[in-house]
Amino acid sequence: MSTLLRNDVCWCGSGKKYKKCHMEQDIFISNIEKKVGYKIPRDIMKTEEQIDGIRKSCKLTHEILDMVGERIKAGVTTNEINTWVHEYTIEHNAYPAPLGYSGFPKSVCTSINDVICHGIPDDTVLKDGDIVNVDVTCILEGYYGDANRMYIIGEASKEALDLVRVSKECLEKGIEQVKPYNTLGDIGYAIQQHAESHGYSVVYDYGGHGVGLEFHEEPFVPHIGRKGEGMILLPNMTFTIEPMINIGAPEADILEDDWTAVTADGSLSSQWEHTIRVTETGYEILT
Ligand code: MF3
Ligand code: CO
Ligand code: CO
Repeated sequence: MSTLLRNDVCWCGSGKKYKKCHMEQDIFISNIEKKVGYKIPRDIMKTEEQIDGIRKSCKLTHEILDMVGERIKAGVTTNEINTWVHEYTIEHNAYPAPLGYSGFPKSVCTSINDVICHGIPDDTVLKDGDIVNVDVTCILEGYYGDANRMYIIGEASKEALDLVRVSKECLEKGIEQVKPYNTLGDIGYAIQQHAESHGYSVVYDYGGHGVGLEFHEEPFVPHIGRKGEGMILLPNMTFTIEPMINIGAPEADILEDDWTAVTADGSLSSQWEHTIRVTETGYEILT
């Protein structure tokens, strides 16, 4: 598999000898590859040091979403949410990953009602009955933490509240599938089953993703799937699960700004996201 010798410097950049660093893990992964019959990226399992850094960044992401929850209400603009998130992030010695990411112009995504994801903060005023997703990603000491939540403004319709609740359950059911040797398909299957059992659809154009050392890493994490299919889950993989669930059809349209994804049929959409670590026996919700 690897051409590195035991006493060579490890490929990961730690500067340590291979035998004291990734050698054991590489043997472990190459044995799994022989069983499953496909390639698994060598750096898919984070080191303990990386996990510590990612955990801290995820904790800050969680705090920012709490902070937003305390302040968000009817009359606030999405630009104001952007300012709160930006300033809080900077004050905590971190950087908002969305700002400048592939040209994204703001520090957070705010997605209202029929917006599926990647809404750009602007002068839009939140009003009673809106359902709003706020998606925060921090970079703290080089490590990424990514999560989003739905916020209900004032009193929303039963239709909206049901969607928000069921989409949260979809995330939870996806997370329950996370343990070593389960697959990404197990996660997608659980999410899709739950959404469709309520008559909703799952957006397939977007998915979760590996996260931690970069904003978007391998693997892509589909929110639809079949049991047992897709990449195997291994300890210390870190990735997001972030199902986007629509009342109507799953198709998305992108607006003129090249970012905002809306439901093609104008129906409501709801999303919840966590960054997850695979543990030896199951999962740890990092955000
Ligand atoms: N935070 C989003 C995600 O969950 C990605 C936003 S990309 C941005 O993957 F550029 F719009 F910020
Ligand atoms: Co994400
Ligand atoms: Co996100």
